[in-house]
Amino acid sequence: MVNLLSPITIGDLQLKNRIVLPPMQTGLADEKGRVTEKLVDHYGQYSSDVGLIIVEHSFVLPEGKYSAGQLGIDRDGLIPGLETLAEVAREGGASAIIQLNHAGLKAEGTELNILDFDYEGSLSKYSLKEIDRIVESFVKSGIRAMKAGFQGVEIHGAHGFLLNQFTSPITNDREDEYGGRFEDRIRLPLRIVEKVRQEIDEGIISYRLGATDLDSRGITIEESKTLAKKLDDLGLDLLDVSGGLCGSSPDELEGEQGFFVSRAREIEKAVSCHVVGVGGITDPVYGNELVTSGDVDLIAAGRAQLNDPTWAARAASELR
Ligand SMILES: Cc1cc2nc3c(=O)[nH]c(=O)nc-3n(C[C@H](O)[C@H](O)[C@H](O)COP(=O)(O)O)c2cc1C
Repeated sequence: MVNLLSPITIGDLQLKNRIVLPPMQTGLADEKGRVTEKLVDHYGQYSSDVGLIIVEHSFVLPEGKYSAGQLGIDRDGLIPGLETLAEVAREGGASAIIQLNHAGLKAEGTELNILDFDYEGSLSKYSLKEIDRIVESFVKSGIRAMKAGFQGVEIHGAHGFLLNQFTSPITNDREDEYGGRFEDRIRLPLRIVEKVRQEIDEGIISYRLGATDLDSRGITIEESKTLAKKLDDLGLDLLDVSGGLCGSSPDELEGEQGFFVSRAREIEKAVSCHVVGVGGITDPVYGNELVTSGDVDLIAAGRAQLNDPTWAARAASELR
C-alpha cells in the first residue's frame, strides 16, 4: 500500500518519499536578492530526508519583491548563486524546485494593508503592456531556474500576492478582460502557466493555489476547482493547495492538523495531476493517513520542519 514513505513519480521526477518542504521565506538572501552561504546551509539540512524541497518565493521582477532578505530570480546574474543552492538542496537525494512570485500590491514599499482589505492600491494600475511584461518575467525566471539546476518551478498563486489578487473578487477591481467575471480573473495565472509550460518541458510545474480566501466574499470552492482543472489541462504536474488571502496560516485555523487539506481533497478528485496537502501538519501519523487514504498524494509540513529540520527523518523512523 502507498504511504508517506513510498516513492512517487511526478513528470520526469522520481521523489524518494512524499514529504515536501513547502516554500518558506527565510529572509536569508542578501540585500540584492542573492543567495548567501546561510541560505545554502539552511536548505542543505533537508536534502537527505524529504522527497521534494520547494525553495521559498523568489521575486521575478524588482518591483515584485515582497520584503528584505527575499531571494531574487529576476536577472541572469543571480544564476551562479542559485546553482549552488540547487546543488546543495539536491545533494542528499531530495528533488528541488523553486517558487516564483510577484508580490503585486503587496510589494515592498507599497501601502497595501491586505490584512483588513483596506488599502489604496488597485490592480488597474497594471497596463496591458505591464501584464505582458509580468507574464514574460515568470517565463524568463523559470528558464533561469532550470539553467541553475532546479528540477522545476512553482508559480505562487496564493497568500494574497499578485496572482491571488487577480483571482480573488475581493482584490480584483479591474474592468477589462483581466477582471470582473471569474473567467477573466483567472486569465493571468492561466496565461503564465501556459507560457511557462511551453518554455519548460524538462522540468515540473507546480501551482500554489489559493483555494480559499477565508472570506465569504472570496473565491468559492467550485471556482477554485474550476481553476485547478484548467491548470491541469495546461499540463501542470503538481497542485500545492493552500489558501488565505491574508496569509498562509490564519490565526482562526491554528491548532488544526491539516487545515487546508479538505480543499486539497476536493481538488484532488477534480484533477489528474498530483496534489499536495498542507496546513498545520505536525504529526507524521496523521500525514501518513492522508496519503494512505488517497486524500492527497503528498503532504507538506512547513513550520514543523522549520522548528525541527530532523522532522522528516524522525517521521520516517516512526512510520517504519
Ligand atoms: C516563515 C514562513 C515563511 C513562508 N514563506 C512562504 C513562501 O515563500 N511561499 C509560500 O507559498 N508560502 C510560504 N509560507 C507558507 C508555508 O509554505 C505553509 O503553507 C504554511 O506555513 C502552513 O503550513 P504549516 O502549518 O505546515 O507551517 C511561509 C510560512 C512561514 C511560516
